[in-house]
Amino acid sequence: MTAKIIDGKLFAENLRGRIAGHVQRLKTEHGITPGLAVVIVGSDPASQVYVSSKAKQTAEVGMNSYKHELPAETSEADLLALVAKLNADPAVHGILVQLPVPKHIDPNKVIEAIDPAKDVDSFTPANVGKVQIGLPGPVSCTPLGALMLLRDHLGNLEGKNAVIIGRSNLVGKPMMQLLLRDNCTVTVAHSKTQNLADVVRQADIVVAAVGRPEMVKGDWLKPGAVVIDVGINRVPAPEKGEGKTKLVGDVDFASAVDVASAITPVPGGVGPMTIACLLANTITTASLING
Ligand code: GUN
Repeated sequence: MTAKIIDGKLFAENLRGRIAGHVQRLKTEHGITPGLAVVIVGSDPASQVYVSSKAKQTAEVGMNSYKHELPAETSEADLLALVAKLNADPAVHGILVQLPVPKHIDPNKVIEAIDPAKDVDSFTPANVGKVQIGLPGPVSCTPLGALMLLRDHLGNLEGKNAVIIGRSNLVGKPMMQLLLRDNCTVTVAHSKTQNLADVVRQADIVVAAVGRPEMVKGDWLKPGAVVIDVGINRVPAPEKGEGKTKLVGDVDFASAVDVASAITPVPGGVGPMTIACLLANTITTASLING
């Protein structure tokens, strides 16, 4: 079997097209231009690339983009003051503070400072709770993007055995909630799970979000499984030349592609969906804020 490659880049492009139409309608029919503020503290190169892409794509769909780049030595108090200012700014409908923040800043304090009505990451306790009990509001971007790809490929997810590898607040836990809401039977595996390969082999759907390059091998998969690879790991690529690097996922694509029925590539799978869903969440918060 050779798996179908799930094209997240194309899906995200189409989604952004629909979002641009929605933004246009919000502008002309309601006089609202959604505004998204992205905040980055420090100069982590990967975070800078993500934040620049977020700001660029925000502007491309017609929203206002406010980018705040703060030096690494910014104090926690100063960051909290900026968040408070953005909370109070009526032109800002979404606030995203790029994680990780430098070590001297408590990320939980920052997350809790964001007005849940503008929390486009869906990281605040209020929004995590809303997702859990099924109330409307923003949904964590990467899990939402993964869910859209799964629904698009499989249709109804009801009754599927889903195994999520990784229990992070950013991906694993919200993914669990979303798949439960779609009536999957969900297992969340993690670093202490015993016989991980055997657990993964039970899955109709595998979501790999563990942050370990190419950890999930093809022989861990049930033939025909659908594999969503959330990992984005930069590794050395000596085959491309000395000092060169490449991006790989948490799944060993070369072996998995022969066993799975469908798989997301890295890059070009879940990654582009994360930003598109961030824009979708900004429409959600802008619409909810304006009643
Ligand atoms: N760092 C890596 N992914 C994310 C994300 O989705 N949101 C934020 N705020 N930071 C991140």
